[in-house]
Amino acid sequence: MRIGIVGLGYVGLPLAVAFGQAGHEVAGYDVDAARVERLDRGESDIEDVPSEALSGLGERFTASTEAAALADCDAVLVCVPTPLVAEREPDLTYVRKSAETIASVLREGQLVVLESTTYPGTTREELLPRLERSGLAVGEGFFLAYSPERIDPGRSSHTIAGTPKVVGGITPACLERAERLYAEICDEVVPVSSPEAAELSKLLENTFRSVNIALVNELAQLTDRLGIDIWEVVDAASSKPFGFMRFEPGPGMGGHCLPVDPFYLAFKARQHDFATEFVELAGKINQSHPLFCVSKIQAALNDRAKAVNGSRVLIVGVAYKSGVADLREAPALKMIDHLRELGADVSYHDPHVPALPDKELESASLEEAVAAADAVAIVTAHDELDYPKLVAAAALVVDFRGVTRALAADNVVLL
Ligand SMILES: NC(=O)c1ccc[n+]([C@@H]2O[C@H](COP(=O)([O-])OP(=O)(O)OC[C@H]3O[C@@H](n4cnc5c(N)ncnc54)[C@H](O)[C@@H]3O)[C@@H](O)[C@H]2O)c1
Repeated sequence: MRIGIVGLGYVGLPLAVAFGQAGHEVAGYDVDAARVERLDRGESDIEDVPSEALSGLGERFTASTEAAALADCDAVLVCVPTPLVAEREPDLTYVRKSAETIASVLREGQLVVLESTTYPGTTREELLPRLERSGLAVGEGFFLAYSPERIDPGRSSHTIAGTPKVVGGITPACLERAERLYAEICDEVVPVSSPEAAELSKLLENTFRSVNIALVNELAQLTDRLGIDIWEVVDAASSKPFGFMRFEPGPGMGGHCLPVDPFYLAFKARQHDFATEFVELAGKINQSHPLFCVSKIQAALNDRAKAVNGSRVLIVGVAYKSGVADLREAPALKMIDHLRELGADVSYHDPHVPALPDKELESASLEEAVAAADAVAIVTAHDELDYPKLVAAAALVVDFRGVTRALAADNVVLL
């Protein structure tokens, strides 16, 4: 088969490689000309996709900014961003634009699948009418389905092949085509009765995480007042072999998905006079949690008779999670702003993020910055850092990830 991938980012590129490695021809299409040029040379800019994997596909992978590349594809998968506009409402500009691009080259027999995370109804309301303007009828002339992407950047324990793929088609023929397509790269395909069920299943997965992260972080704020160790509590609860799922406390929630997706659900709910209160509450707690973490740093300095104002605070790890360079909605960014508002002299170290141009900061040398800092805040715990060494060299460590717990050092304050 020849597979078209629209949007070659965190989602689209691994998918392109999976189809290429399964022996298919892959035509990548992206509006970012610089990215397309790099990818076409076989250079990956996504950490989970080694350049060798891309260049190893040889002629089977091409990248282009020309929609014509999609015209002779058997299937076209849409992996474009679904962010929020400033008012925290869904921004479907990229999805709509992609639908129009595909409609301009759609030909008989093609399967189109939306993979971007979105609210239930998007495939039917936004893609279907635009594609039907081609004059082709869905389920006969072309086929349309939704299949949410479940990739977790930085996680190597679950592959695309080993992660079941949920699929919902506009018609039974659409579903059948999409099931056959994904069976090429996934061991298990999970068919559902409609694109809406598939769309909502993704939002349920992400809302589930958002709510549970909010719950454990709210508890962390409570245990702070009660003088109980939240990590010990989570460890103890996790010993239950059923009915409990472990969620780690931390500095707050980041990434493109969890802080954004619940707003997609809330938006759809509002259109039906329904308020998704759990979702909103989780969002509220998650958004305010980095400020609580700053108050934790403030209190730790205060205990050492120091004010935040004038103190040198080193943030270790600014990406939203370990193992990646992704800064989208990263709690560290909020913390840096807030610490600066309080008068702190903030520096950061992150092996994955060389610079934060918006904040006019560059990743500092870890050894020097630790030695100079009044407080070191571990915000994202990248695996490659040596935490015992860091603790030994630091005046004060505030650990929001629990990675220094076992050291039981006097100069460490845990979340
Ligand atoms: N990153 C994740 O962990 C993850 C996981 C599951 C689902 N998702 C969802 O997948 C979707 C894509 O996310 P991502 O992280 O891959 O985004 P990304 O920003 O990494 O990549 C998106 C790509 O789409 C391109 N693009 C934008 N408009 C385009 C257009 N009109 N035509 C062609 N290309 C276009 C961009 O240039 C970019 O290269 C989102 O809906 C996201 O919620 C992301």
